[in-house]
Amino acid sequence: LSEARRLAAGAGTLEELGQAIAMFEGCPLRGLGARQAVFARGNPEAEVLVIGEGPGAEEDERGQPFVGKAGQLLDRMLKEAGLEGRVFITNTVFWRPPGNRTPTPAEQAVCAPFVERAFALLKPRAVLLVGGASAKAVLGVDEGILKLRGQWREWRLAEGNVSAPALPTLHPAFLLRQPMAKRQAWADMLALAARLENGEAR
Ligand code: URA
Repeated sequence: LSEARRLAAGAGTLEELGQAIAMFEGCPLRGLGARQAVFARGNPEAEVLVIGEGPGAEEDERGQPFVGKAGQLLDRMLKEAGLEGRVFITNTVFWRPPGNRTPTPAEQAVCAPFVERAFALLKPRAVLLVGGASAKAVLGVDEGILKLRGQWREWRLAEGNVSAPALPTLHPAFLLRQPMAKRQAWADMLALAARLENGEAR
């Protein structure tokens, strides 16, 4: 059992999981200039687990995910879709990659036991995968986000009996650079909200 898996398994609540992550020294990103571990924010009883890519500068400073410009856009979209207060937000890695580069698959793999434990503890009805690096890491697929977005996939953990429908969508940082793409991301957000309303999602 890896150290991450052992620590993650020992966490009985999301709060304990955050403490376990802060103690975990096995992620190579820790030594690359990150100030602190950034685990999660939101409702620990949420119906939706939101998984971004990794903390940026603002997140690294404040210790919370999605609190910079991209996070503000994400929050606005969640609110407009009626999902405010109904999400628990984390990332595929818990330390800021240097220069805000995309986390590598190896860095994501080291952190994956914690992401999976968050999924198992929250047992959300649906999962929103924000950005290509999140969708690829969680679903283990290799298609680009423009192809993956808007398509529901089942995310099932190998261990235990945890699964939920997961929806890849465009990253809000991308939307800030490409405002034309907001239409697609908004369609994804509405699809997520509709799935919860219709009681289809577990
Ligand atoms: N981008 C992400 O993917 N996650 C954050 O927490 C912030 C920006």
